[in-house]
Amino acid sequence: MEEPELQIPWGRLALWNTLFGALYFFRSVSLDIWLASKKTDVEFGELKFGETNLKAVREILKRVPMNSNTTVFELGCGRGRAAFLFHFLTGAKIVAVDLVGPFIVTGRRLARWMGCQGQVLFCYENFLQTDLREADVIYACALCLGEQTRESLAQRISQCAEGTHLITVGWNPQRDWLEPVDQLRCGFSWGTAGIYINRLKRTPQSDPHYRDEESDPPRLPSCP
Ligand SMILES: C[S@@+](CC[C@H](N)C(=O)[O-])C[C@H]1O[C@@H](n2cnc3c(N)ncnc32)[C@H](O)[C@@H]1O
Repeated sequence: MEEPELQIPWGRLALWNTLFGALYFFRSVSLDIWLASKKTDVEFGELKFGETNLKAVREILKRVPMNSNTTVFELGCGRGRAAFLFHFLTGAKIVAVDLVGPFIVTGRRLARWMGCQGQVLFCYENFLQTDLREADVIYACALCLGEQTRESLAQRISQCAEGTHLITVGWNPQRDWLEPVDQLRCGFSWGTAGIYINRLKRTPQSDPHYRDEESDPPRLPSCP
């Protein structure tokens, strides 16, 4: 059945953008990150903060269609700026994950305030421990992640279902189980960065009947 077209709430989006800008005056993100880094074994440098803006989200949505049946996992969501934009523009369900506690508290508060707490869920967790099997789309700003974290994240994502979209910022994951869809450059709060869109191919994990034609060529019927 055709999805009814979602009305874009422009007024609400403008208010939202202003609110996220204003949040910087009320709370020092650097202090929150520094305090969080004392509690985790994640490198301080990997917790750098920045936000995705409306223009970048709209560019992504031109390439990755989403609707109210889509589940998006936002890995490293901060206070949820991108998470809320994806939800408001498409109706998608969002699972937003971060390990800086005050970001999650703010995100949950904003979701309650907007009445979308059932649709934009905030999880206080290291995303390397997140169960991603429900994901249709994964969005990760990975600019500051170290090689080892990227490798562990890629391994986790490789368990997702065939067709899952992976959108990464500042990191082109290039794996043989990923099919490139598109790439572009956009402005973010920290400057310009590359956005890489890939889709998971059929893999031994997603399909038990899968056979890699190169390493396991089909056996020819033996002639009598
Ligand atoms: C560049 S910010 C992105 C914010 C948000 N995604 C946006 O685009 O508006 C990166 C976020 O990733 C979080 N982060 C980094 N490593 C993480 C990890 N292993 N688990 C959960 N969150 C992590 C940081 O705390 C930070 O809030």
